[in-house]
Amino acid sequence: GVPGKSVRYLLRERMPENIYELLKKAGELAETMGFHLFLVGGIVRDMVMRVNNLDVDLVVEGDGVVFARVLGNAFGAKVSPHEKYKTAVIRLPGGVRIDVATARLEYYRMPGAFPEVEESNLKLDLSRRDFTINTMAVALNPQRFGELIDYFGAQRDIREKKIRVLHSLSFVEDPSRILRAVRFEKRRGFSLGKQTISLVSSAVHAGFLRNIPGRRIFHEMRQILQEEDPIRCMDRLRELKVLEAIHPDLIFDEPMREAFHAVRETLLWFRLLYTREKVRVWFLYFLAMTESMDPQTVVALGDAFGLRREDAEILLSSREKVREIMRRMASLPDILPSQAVDILEKASLEEILYAMSRSKSASFKKIFSTYVTTWRNYRPPISGRDLLAIGFSGNRELGACLKEIRDRCLNGEIRDFAGALAFAQSRLAETRGERSPGEPPRV
Ligand code: CTP
Repeated sequence: GVPGKSVRYLLRERMPENIYELLKKAGELAETMGFHLFLVGGIVRDMVMRVNNLDVDLVVEGDGVVFARVLGNAFGAKVSPHEKYKTAVIRLPGGVRIDVATARLEYYRMPGAFPEVEESNLKLDLSRRDFTINTMAVALNPQRFGELIDYFGAQRDIREKKIRVLHSLSFVEDPSRILRAVRFEKRRGFSLGKQTISLVSSAVHAGFLRNIPGRRIFHEMRQILQEEDPIRCMDRLRELKVLEAIHPDLIFDEPMREAFHAVRETLLWFRLLYTREKVRVWFLYFLAMTESMDPQTVVALGDAFGLRREDAEILLSSREKVREIMRRMASLPDILPSQAVDILEKASLEEILYAMSRSKSASFKKIFSTYVTTWRNYRPPISGRDLLAIGFSGNRELGACLKEIRDRCLNGEIRDFAGALAFAQSRLAETRGERSPGEPPRV
């Protein structure tokens, strides 16, 4: 066929140096093995759209597992093969993940095949995919390195910002693509093609979403909740009647929408802290989704999503913990920092962020935000070792004294090591009965 245009410059420009070098090396290795190698899927789509994406997906015309072993070996990487599907995952020491798939197993039994026949293996593989924008490939063998392969009009659809299926049975083959369609649509101003919308509607109407394991729907829902703007996705899912098809009680009504907004704002705030900590974003949205459902409905929704009972229980217990936090905070008229720490220290980061999103008053929000940014990492200026050194024995008194020092430090009553030491010494004297208990010394 006609060679595609070269996107070598894009590879150079968009890929980090180490991945670019890896792709080149991979193409060379494939060549020596007599295989054809392609970069495919989301990473190609995103590269063409100038969006960052480091999930390297490779398709091999040849034996993907054999190839993955050779490639992994060359880079000192761990290779996890899946012989049955002839796929493998390579994890590079730096953390990069490479998925390798096999285009067609029969290929290698056709020595000296025509180029057209060879390429049709890749074409067949790409033709099974969900949307046109995901069907591009880039050739990696040395002679063709950087050649863009676009059989299904992906470049046109990216230009027109359209999500289109490749054929009318796409959602029948895989109804979870309905959720994927919405997820891709709400990125960067895309929209569903006219025909694709009507195929979504028919598939939803025909109840196809019930034909796949709930777990797959859950997986796609989780992806949606991790998108830049899950609210727009949820609005669209509602409009397309997808939510009610998943579970009749899953209604994206105004209160749920507001809960989503509050979570989103809290997450935007949290992201500005630039911590490296990972938050399970989807979990917060799940809490928002189930906020006003009764426990039985939460369990039923969990079933619809193929969750194990334990996981539904975890969700419910987190919800309970958040409510407990809100109750305890509301019961204290003026909360001291040490009291806030007492209330919050057993909660997970997700629970705290969710509780923060639920709190209406600015003063509560302030307490949550200070807890997240400062108090939860607070270390008192004195250690248990110091207390042992001045004569405490390693028992409950020591623990109690440390806790008291921490509280007083948090509340600003003790300011430094000297103050903490003085406090500890007076406590020690009291417990030994050398001094009558009274006001601790002022510091
Ligand atoms: N795919 C598909 N049908 C599905 C899931 C995935 O056809 N139900 C195809 C898509 O064409 C996709 C590829 O498999 O390009 C890899 O899927 P995935 O990694 O989930 O998606 P990406 O396209 O990489 O999207 P992103 O990582 O941006 O979410």
